[in-house]
Amino acid sequence: MFELDHALLGRSLLNIRSLSDAELAYMVELAIALKARRKAGIRGDLLRRMNIALIFEKSSTRTRNSAAVAVRDEGGNAEFLTGHDTHFGVKESVADSARVLGRLFDGILFRGFKQGTVETLAARSGVPVWNGLTDESHPTQFLADMMTMREAFGDVRGKTMAYVGDGRNNVANSLMMGCAKAGINFVNVTPRELFPSEALVGEARAIAARNGCSVRVETDPKAGVKGANVLYTDVWVSMGEEDKKAERLALLRPYQVNAALCEATGNLGGALIFLHCLPAFHDANTEVSRETGALEVTDEVFEAPFSRVFDEAENRMHTIKALYVSALCREPGF
Ligand code: CP
Ligand code: NVA
Repeated sequence: MFELDHALLGRSLLNIRSLSDAELAYMVELAIALKARRKAGIRGDLLRRMNIALIFEKSSTRTRNSAAVAVRDEGGNAEFLTGHDTHFGVKESVADSARVLGRLFDGILFRGFKQGTVETLAARSGVPVWNGLTDESHPTQFLADMMTMREAFGDVRGKTMAYVGDGRNNVANSLMMGCAKAGINFVNVTPRELFPSEALVGEARAIAARNGCSVRVETDPKAGVKGANVLYTDVWVSMGEEDKKAERLALLRPYQVNAALCEATGNLGGALIFLHCLPAFHDANTEVSRETGALEVTDEVFEAPFSRVFDEAENRMHTIKALYVSALCREPGF
């Protein structure tokens, strides 16, 4: 039986800081157990009659559907709300909507612009709140990334991840903090103009020091990825930053993840995986990539046997389910 840690009942995930190092590792082990349970064909009752509100200000394929399937798998329900068809944050303050929704729902998953919104939801709703992406952070994504590394390598400690691309976006921020907590060496490979905030790098370095790993920021792609076990990239233009497109393309074209960059890790042939949070521009088949040529990864790498992007996408569901179960389920285990 997988024993549930009831110390996590009622807990929110607003950013990676919300979990201690040990709780982060526990969450991934819980997700692995829940994945095995689903693969064994068990759709249980761990979240029986629970209602989760999914508030989305930005588009989503993985997060929205993972968040809905995760609760339905275990006997609960999800209600999808957008900024357009509710009063949320427009005709009603976030604090007031939070107090209403907290009386109706057992938990709230939010995706949107401001980190402050997810924090107000957590402070005022009285129920667990999970951050499904803000401009600043994407913590539920990191759980799936760590789970995918755990499946690929067994132990993640001492492995090295090189994130290549927009070094100050939500995904990069959460990877940097998460890797430091998990004992994974992290290299942020990005042009100077897109360096992460010094405060965040300082915080991640202090965490890394206690876990025997390192956090580096590098501008040179080939030097930066040397020794990497995980090559990770994300889109060059995040949601809400569309006006920065021309500038980003000019800065990031030299940072495309391609075969030569994989070769430069020195770990091709077993000790390297490729990850991407998705959605990805990896060919010229989408209207946007045809128009802009914004291809952060080549087809060759995206489709390579060492690319784990679809396992990673599936793991979004198992890890979000782990968050729900740890925060809401009072059973001793399963
Ligand atoms: N990775 C991720 O968050 O995907 P969606 O934007 O599709 O939710
Ligand atoms: N950095 C990307 C991640 C999408 C999952 C964005 O914010 O658009």
